[in-house]
Amino acid sequence: MVNICSCELLILTGSILCLVCVSLEYVPEDNYLIDCGSSTNSSVGDRVFVADQSYSDVLSTPHSISANTSSDSTSSTYDSALYQTAKIFNESSHYTFPIKKPGRHWIRLHFFPFAYRNYNLSMAKFSVSAQNFTLIREYRLESPPIVKEYSVNVTSGSLVLTFTPSVNSFAFINALEVFSLPDKLIPAGARTISSLQGNYKNLWKQALETVERVNMGNQTVFPQNDTLWRLWVSDNQFLIHNNLVTFVSNVTAVNFTGGGPSENIAPALVYGTATRLNSDSDPNINANVTWLFDVDPGFEYLVRFHFCDILSNPLPKLYFNVYIGSWLVYQNLDLLKLTFSLGAPYFMDVITRVSDTRLLNVSVGPSNVGTPYPNAILNGLEIMKISNSEDSLDVLDSISSRSSEGDEERSSNNYQMSTQFNRGNNFETRVSAREFSLGGGDDLDGVSMSKVFAQMVREEMR
Ligand SMILES: *[C@@H]1O[C@H](CO)[C@@H](O)[C@H](O)[C@H]1NC(C)=O
Ligand SMILES: *[C@@H]1O[C@H](CO)[C@@H](O)[C@H](O)[C@H]1NC(C)=O
Ligand SMILES: *[C@@H]1O[C@H](CO)[C@@H](O)[C@H](O)[C@H]1NC(C)=O
Ligand SMILES: *[C@@H]1O[C@H](CO)[C@@H](O)[C@H](O)[C@H]1NC(C)=O
Ligand SMILES: *[C@@H]1O[C@H](CO)[C@@H](O)[C@H](O)[C@H]1NC(C)=O
Ligand SMILES: *[C@@H]1O[C@H](CO)[C@@H](O)[C@H](O)[C@H]1NC(C)=O
Ligand SMILES: *[C@@H]1O[C@H](CO)[C@@H](O)[C@H](O)[C@H]1NC(C)=O
Ligand SMILES: *[C@@H]1O[C@H](CO)[C@@H](O)[C@H](O)[C@H]1NC(C)=O
Ligand SMILES: *[C@@H]1O[C@H](CO)[C@@H](O)[C@H](O)[C@H]1NC(C)=O
Ligand SMILES: *[C@@H]1O[C@H](CO)[C@@H](O)[C@H](O)[C@H]1NC(C)=O
Ligand SMILES: *[C@@H]1O[C@H](CO)[C@@H](O)[C@H](O)[C@H]1NC(C)=O
Ligand SMILES: *[C@@H]1O[C@H](CO)[C@@H](O)[C@H](O)[C@H]1NC(C)=O
Repeated sequence: MVNICSCELLILTGSILCLVCVSLEYVPEDNYLIDCGSSTNSSVGDRVFVADQSYSDVLSTPHSISANTSSDSTSSTYDSALYQTAKIFNESSHYTFPIKKPGRHWIRLHFFPFAYRNYNLSMAKFSVSAQNFTLIREYRLESPPIVKEYSVNVTSGSLVLTFTPSVNSFAFINALEVFSLPDKLIPAGARTISSLQGNYKNLWKQALETVERVNMGNQTVFPQNDTLWRLWVSDNQFLIHNNLVTFVSNVTAVNFTGGGPSENIAPALVYGTATRLNSDSDPNINANVTWLFDVDPGFEYLVRFHFCDILSNPLPKLYFNVYIGSWLVYQNLDLLKLTFSLGAPYFMDVITRVSDTRLLNVSVGPSNVGTPYPNAILNGLEIMKISNSEDSLDVLDSISSRSSEGDEERSSNNYQMSTQFNRGNNFETRVSAREFSLGGGDDLDGVSMSKVFAQMVREEMR
């Protein structure tokens, strides 16, 4: 009797401890949150962005201007407190952050252009680099608040972030986040698919840029509901043929205690909602659920799929295929077999190359192995651009498929010929890639046009 009791007590304390550790907030070892250009600290959710005077020792600049605006056009957004001020640089300037914990750090750059005296921040054109990686080159911002997120593996004692204005222009930044990531959030490498050589690629030397972070189930998850202050946008804007799907939600079904991914990988609000194939009315349905994303060609991407079976009880178990474009990522995915329990989160990483299209499409669909009940789900998706061999993440430095598929080994004498050969072969895509890599002042038009194009394709497919 006594033994059983203490055993039960142990289980009870065990599960209380687990509850505690699940809800425990993440405290990054290195944590720099700066409200640039501000003379006061700003609270955003449970975090304080410190006035940049307090961090004057990390900034090295020949000349900088603190700008402010009374414009409250963004007052409804979560982090609007950060967008009332900005730091303007008219010459190259560096932030040097001392780093205590080696490993991956996130760099989040907050931009919200406004007009200050004779500086119209919408006109600013500049580059940003971190360590030796180009994050942004000759960039001009679109108007809404933009948060750009990067991660770099810091192996030295500091992280250097450099803002460089373009000729006759200036750079600006509204707020900065630099903080340590939990170990194992970003893998040291991942399996590759598509035309990539080999079946594994190391990532530990690469910088990454978050291109999309999506929550399936038609629900946005805001930074205040994520242990790492990530925004997960709703998937409905990316779905094509959305009449084929059903949005499902059961956040209480998510069970993090099985030793799989923790809440730092993705919160329960992400694993607890899903988009699934709607097979209710037609049990013989054979169709894919597809999401379409706009990406820069000429880069490799780390794609992370988040799964959690929140619906099999009492339905038959899930059994489905996962694709990127026409490439099979996983055949006959059986979540229960991989996780051993319903509601247990699961994620998988693959690396793919996007060569000659601006669209990266991700699908889940019924397995061709007979299942009593066709089904397929996805709970979340992250797409991260991988820095290329020029250590750049900027579209201006994209490397066309020509040079990445072994042409580097060719002698430079053959360069002209292979270029022409490829042009003849694949004229349209080659031209657009060239326009991108040569694009001067019109580059932003190119970017927004591609967004428009992706939107048009999505609409056409509805
Ligand atoms: C802002 O916060 C920092 C760090 O918590 C603190 O050292 C500083 O005194 C604060 N500054 C103001 C103006 O409140
Ligand atoms: C900007 O800051 C200055 C000095 O603190 C203040 O006098 C001014 O009213 C502020 N302007 C706006 C538009 O908030
Ligand atoms: C930046 O501004 C300062 C102060 O107005 C000025 O002295 C300096 O020459 C400017 N630098 C450039 C590159 O325009
Ligand atoms: C700032 O520049 C943008 C883009 O060129 C323009 O639309 C806007 O009217 C300008 N604002 C001011 C106050 O000049
Ligand atoms: C950046 O590149 C320079 C020159 O190639 C090298 O000396 C330096 O160690 C690199 N810095 C980092 C942080 O990788
Ligand atoms: C960071 O780089 C070091 C080698 O310098 C490597 O051992 C480590 O695994 C890398 N970390 C990540 C998260 O890639
Ligand atoms: C998806 O979300 C959007 C925006 O919140 C909403 O308008 C729409 O009705 C939702 N669709 C479904 C099927 O729930
Ligand atoms: C998100 O976080 C806010 C603030 O902490 C909280 O009030 C809200 O209930 C959370 N939303 C969900 C869906 O958990
Ligand atoms: C949510 O999941 C839990 C655990 O699997 C289950 O007991 C509950 O009935 C589910 N709720 C709904 C609304 O499906
Ligand atoms: C959560 O998962 C663990 C490990 O698989 C299991 O022992 C436990 O019963 C599950 N909890 C619930 C509420 O399903
Ligand atoms: C998805 O991508 C593949 C390969 O790029 C293409 O063949 C297919 O037509 C695309 N599907 C949709 C719906 O765009
Ligand atoms: C789902 O997409 C894959 C990859 O494009 C394709 O091979 C498969 O035939 C599609 N299945 C259905 C039912 O359309």
